[in-house]
Amino acid sequence: MRITYRYANNKNYWTKRWADIPADAPMENANVYPLKYAQMTVKDRAGKILEAGCGAGRILRYYHDRGYDIVGMDFIAVAIDKLKEIDPTLKAEVGDITNLRYADNSFKYLLAFGLYHNLEDGLDKAVQETYRVVEPGGAVCASFRADNIQTRLTDWLTDRKARRNGANKSSKAFHKMNLTRSEYANLFARAGFVIDFIEPVENMPILYKFPIFRSSSHKKFDENKARSEGYQLSWFGQKLQNLLMRFFPDQFCNIYVLIAHKV
Ligand SMILES: C[S@@+](CC[C@H](N)C(=O)[O-])C[C@H]1O[C@@H](n2cnc3c(N)ncnc32)[C@H](O)[C@@H]1O
Repeated sequence: MRITYRYANNKNYWTKRWADIPADAPMENANVYPLKYAQMTVKDRAGKILEAGCGAGRILRYYHDRGYDIVGMDFIAVAIDKLKEIDPTLKAEVGDITNLRYADNSFKYLLAFGLYHNLEDGLDKAVQETYRVVEPGGAVCASFRADNIQTRLTDWLTDRKARRNGANKSSKAFHKMNLTRSEYANLFARAGFVIDFIEPVENMPILYKFPIFRSSSHKKFDENKARSEGYQLSWFGQKLQNLLMRFFPDQFCNIYVLIAHKV
């Protein structure tokens, strides 16, 4: 386990991030994270879904528009307000994964992309809450930041940029938690889940940080576009990325995606 510290605490980071961009359009590209993994999990059209940590809403809106019964929940009010404004028919609410208001066994599926690694305290409590609200036979699909070379490099580059822009070392605060593959599996197994699958995934390749490796339509950074289409690399960037992921997947992924079920 490794902790990443940055110059804004986690809640301020998310508040600013969601305040700065509009609500997402429904995600389009089902071949990439996270929609690809959501689709591997949600198999029963009639099953109720909770998207915990729904953020700007790309997954919530995708399922809602297709008639699924889905609730989106996030602890950042500005994100929820923007979602309700863009589509008043969405079920979206403010909540905290460490203390859910839902009754036991309320959902068949719980999707939680990029959520649990935001917790400095209460990580086990959050996964226990997840277990409690998922019905027997139901499943969770969740991603978590990997503890590896890629995230260490990302943290180093981000830190260097912040210091160049005048950030003060003494103002560092908790940003995210990083886990190895086995630490991540143990976290869900401890709560009672049976792990079906853990895969190293490159959501935001480190090469994407350098415009030279980005696809021509992504040279100018547009977060909503990248969130809808995936962080797309140029032909050469993608080849390089494929090589890294082929030979060193655990070191050059940035997240692990887990699918687990409740017996
Ligand atoms: C990486 S973003 C993912 C957003 C969305 N799931 C997606 O894939 O586009 C993680 C989200 O978790 C939310 N979050 C962090 N801690 C939380 C908590 N304790 N309870 C609920 N949501 C939380 C953040 O506000 C943020 O929107």
